[in-house]
Amino acid sequence: MNATPAPGPPTLVTTRLALRDLRAEDASAIAAGAGDPRVARYLVQVPSPYPVALARRWVAHRREWWPLGRGVTLAIALRDAPDQLLGTVSLRRFARDRRAELGYWLAAAHWGHGFATEACRGIVAFGFGQLELARIYAQVLAGNAPSMRVLEKIGMVHEGVKRQHVKKGHHLHDIVLYGLLRDEWRNST
Ligand SMILES: CC(C)(COP(=O)(O)OP(=O)(O)OC[C@H]1O[C@@H](n2cnc3c(N)ncnc32)[C@H](O)[C@@H]1OP(=O)(O)O)[C@@H](O)C(=O)NCCC(=O)NCCS
Repeated sequence: MNATPAPGPPTLVTTRLALRDLRAEDASAIAAGAGDPRVARYLVQVPSPYPVALARRWVAHRREWWPLGRGVTLAIALRDAPDQLLGTVSLRRFARDRRAELGYWLAAAHWGHGFATEACRGIVAFGFGQLELARIYAQVLAGNAPSMRVLEKIGMVHEGVKRQHVKKGHHLHDIVLYGLLRDEWRNST
């Protein structure tokens, strides 16, 4: 008997972007983009270099999230070039608490055009609107000023610092916590 594959998440269309389901063919763009040392240095679990085989496993693992209700990971692409992955944006959902953690990265060649802000706004609206979350939060490695700016632009509130919370490379790093509640989001849109 052939099992019918579970349906994937919807494509979220924003002004310039299509946030679409991840595909196995995205693995090489993910390995190159996230494995770039300028990007990987701020992603706790991403090695640099990042082997394509590992990226392929990551795609398969993240695609399991949606049917299990564990969250959603979407490719960031331009609306008029939806096949070309520029980065990813995700909500890792903790259903019992109606909260999710926002994660994102963008290939360095595409920084500085507001794409991450636009992608985060899009998935946050989906999280509060369709997934009915109560809280969305993000955890940023200390010193990652562009990422903190993205979170401030989408209305997130600085909630504190977890000191020496994660090991990346040979060092323990502080984590800066940002959060947004459903009512705050609703009042700002
Ligand atoms: C963080 C990241 C996603 C931002 O992508 P982006 O598309 O360039 O972001 P945007 O253009 O939407 O916004 C970036 C903001 O940071 C600002 N910025 C850039 N460099 C900065 C710096 N050194 N100090 C302060 N602000 C900075 C930009 O000016 C812009 O703000 P503005 O619109 O007010 O001018 C991208 O840099 C990235 O992938 N970094 C590595 C991975 C990562 O950090 N992921 C997040 C983990 S929490």
